[in-house]
Amino acid sequence: MIRNSVPYDHQLTKTLSLLQNPGLLLASSKPSGQSNVMVIGWATIGIIWSKPIFVAMVRPSRYTYEFIDDSKTFTVNVPDETQRKWVGVCGSNSGRDMDKFAELKIAITPGHTVNSVTLDACPMVYECKVLHYNDLIPANLDGEVEASSYGGSDYHRLYFGEILGAFASESY
Ligand SMILES: Cc1cc2nc3c(=O)[nH]c(=O)nc-3n(C[C@H](O)[C@H](O)[C@H](O)COP(=O)(O)O)c2cc1C
Repeated sequence: MIRNSVPYDHQLTKTLSLLQNPGLLLASSKPSGQSNVMVIGWATIGIIWSKPIFVAMVRPSRYTYEFIDDSKTFTVNVPDETQRKWVGVCGSNSGRDMDKFAELKIAITPGHTVNSVTLDACPMVYECKVLHYNDLIPANLDGEVEASSYGGSDYHRLYFGEILGAFASESY
């Protein structure tokens, strides 16, 4: 898939819609070269510190968590209609148990601006460098959100990634 550099907010409404359904594919690669991919459904894109920022929320139980902590970079890859199966598999299997790239025959290439890999076939990609992260503070959470999303454990870590590059295909 040929992708060209675009502004961070290119087709933002479309990306946010796909974030909600079916979800986006977040990949991260350790300095050792090992990579993993998972699905994210909760995130925001906006401006912080006068920079374009992608905030991704990852639970400590995810294998991907240690990849982002190690590399301080991640990519977010927007799937197209033909990649729904990837979302199904990557959102319900852990890289601890399966090499998802090999299993799904997903071709990957390091990003232009970060070492984390991008998924070659995805029509839109965000390349992000972590500028800050913090863990949710349970005591500060709204009670309904705590009950519906946590039940006392596995509180997300929020990664604030500067969008160093955004790349889209002609058709996206
Ligand atoms: C639609 C959808 C959205 C998801 N959103 C998130 C998310 O925002 N954060 C998160 O930590 N897990 C999320 N998950 C769960 C992970 O993608 C899933 O647990 C995955 O298997 C983790 O893979 P890993 O252990 O290889 O990192 C989502 C799953 C689906 C199906």
